[in-house]
Amino acid sequence: MSATPAAARAVTVPNFRAAKGGARLAVVTAYDYTSARLADEAGVDAILVGDSLGMVIQGHPTSLPVTLRDVIYHTRCVVRGARRALVVADLPFMTYQESPRQAVRSAGRLVKEGGAHAVKLEGGEAVANAVRAVVAAGIPVMGHVGLTPQSVHLFGGFKVQRDGAQLLADARAVAGAGAFAVVIESVPADLGAQLTAALPVPTVGIGAGPACDAQVLVFHDLLGLYADFTPKFVKRYADLGAAAKAAIGAYAREVRDGTFPGPEHSFR
Ligand code: KIV
Repeated sequence: MSATPAAARAVTVPNFRAAKGGARLAVVTAYDYTSARLADEAGVDAILVGDSLGMVIQGHPTSLPVTLRDVIYHTRCVVRGARRALVVADLPFMTYQESPRQAVRSAGRLVKEGGAHAVKLEGGEAVANAVRAVVAAGIPVMGHVGLTPQSVHLFGGFKVQRDGAQLLADARAVAGAGAFAVVIESVPADLGAQLTAALPVPTVGIGAGPACDAQVLVFHDLLGLYADFTPKFVKRYADLGAAAKAAIGAYAREVRDGTFPGPEHSFR
């Protein structure tokens, strides 16, 4: 298997990890069959069933209310649409923080019931033992340091994280515990570059600058489908929200004026 997962074959954890320092990897979130299929056919390397679904699917202001059952449900939908991308599922708030044992149990459900190939959990030194235990159970783990949204109240908001020494200690702790990749969220670009140079595994940046080995964006942000909050690091590649509103508006007008359904949409 080449270290370049951009080829047509399936992306695995070993070849994702082996891409460190090589070809950059593209990761996007998805939460259902149709969006996963679109992302997969567009050629992304990995699909993250993020607990951001609490915001973009469920309409909460944070990811905190998301349950393990929610993520299992959405992961099941996503794996049906992902033919070659690696599927990573998020461990939601309070499904792994209590103990390594709880982390193994929750991660096991994401793999066994959801069909995920790997799990992601947030935190650094404090969760290193949980990462170690989940990996020892045979489940690949993606770490997540920097702005970890499950700790939003501890940070006092969705704020850029600038404590370089702590970020380095956290990222090293999860990589040292066996994580095959580490998401780095909302840190200055020079820190993103330092962490990428320091870690032996790929860094997956979101608001962490261009030096990261991979980038991840939320599906709805990338496509302009979520208007409630757009962080600085989001680039909108399309405005599907406006296109969808225009299409639905046209449909409603045609229903009201009797143009739809026409003869071509009616049975004789
Ligand atoms: O929940 C999520 O979608 C995430 C990514 C934004 C990294 O954690």
